[in-house]
Amino acid sequence: MLFVQAGDGYPYYARPRFPGGRPTVADVVQMRARQRELGVPEALEWVHETTPDLHDAAVAAGMEVLMAPLMVLDPDQLPEPHPHVRVLGTSPAEVSVVAQLAFSTPGTAPGSVGVAERDAALRDATPTSTRHRHAVADLPGEGVLAVGTAQRAGDVVEIAGIGTLPAARRRGLGGAVTAELARDALSRGAELVFLSAGSLDVARVYERVGFRRVGTACIASPVVG
Ligand SMILES: CC(C)(COP(=O)(O)OP(=O)(O)OC[C@H]1O[C@@H](n2cnc3c(N)ncnc32)[C@H](O)[C@@H]1OP(=O)(O)O)[C@@H](O)C(=O)NCCC(=O)NCCS
Repeated sequence: MLFVQAGDGYPYYARPRFPGGRPTVADVVQMRARQRELGVPEALEWVHETTPDLHDAAVAAGMEVLMAPLMVLDPDQLPEPHPHVRVLGTSPAEVSVVAQLAFSTPGTAPGSVGVAERDAALRDATPTSTRHRHAVADLPGEGVLAVGTAQRAGDVVEIAGIGTLPAARRRGLGGAVTAELARDALSRGAELVFLSAGSLDVARVYERVGFRRVGTACIASPVVG
């Protein structure tokens, strides 16, 4: 299935029908051509356990595939709320700035980039409008150090974009932001809260706040270069 961007929403990745047949390399090549024609990103996602043949077909069609732990919240395992994490229905400039700086230093290791770089970037930034929920860890005297986003479709909420400034890592903030978004989703009636972790190291952060692995999310994008 291929989605065409509507209104101001984010462009959406294509995905196989479920249950479907056995996707082939030709199917993926055709999908990419149609996405280029529509001007949407050449992106494809699926659950490995339900469509295992698609991995090799996507790779043979020139895509690289990230296999990310797919995790679902066990609400009973949520930790106590963090005193300095709050959830917002607006998107202050800190959300995109902190996320951008966090994702510029991938992995879970701490680094040097911190509040000085955030504040410099904030001088040129503007708040964006949002249809999503955002969480910020806003520490007294330090400001926003970690952020995350939750997007909802019906009863299902996906948490994404969890990021902590490299200099503020390993203080429990990434986990706390994730937990608060999950708690907020449940309080607003979500039946299922899920996320995909970028790596096994990142998955541990989510496990600590009540998520458990249920499968593998495959995220395919064109090989660069
Ligand atoms: C992944 C990420 C959000 C984690 O943020 P974080 O704030 O460091 O997360 P936490 O502090 O909750 O947990 C990280 C580690 O610190 C440890 N920790 C938590 N609280 C701690 C504390 N008070 N003191 C010391 N260590 C602590 C955790 O146990 C965990 O250890 P582990 O790596 O051995 O499992 C961050 O590394 C990041 O922004 N990475 C780049 C973007 C990214 O990949 N995002 C996820 C996309 S799916």
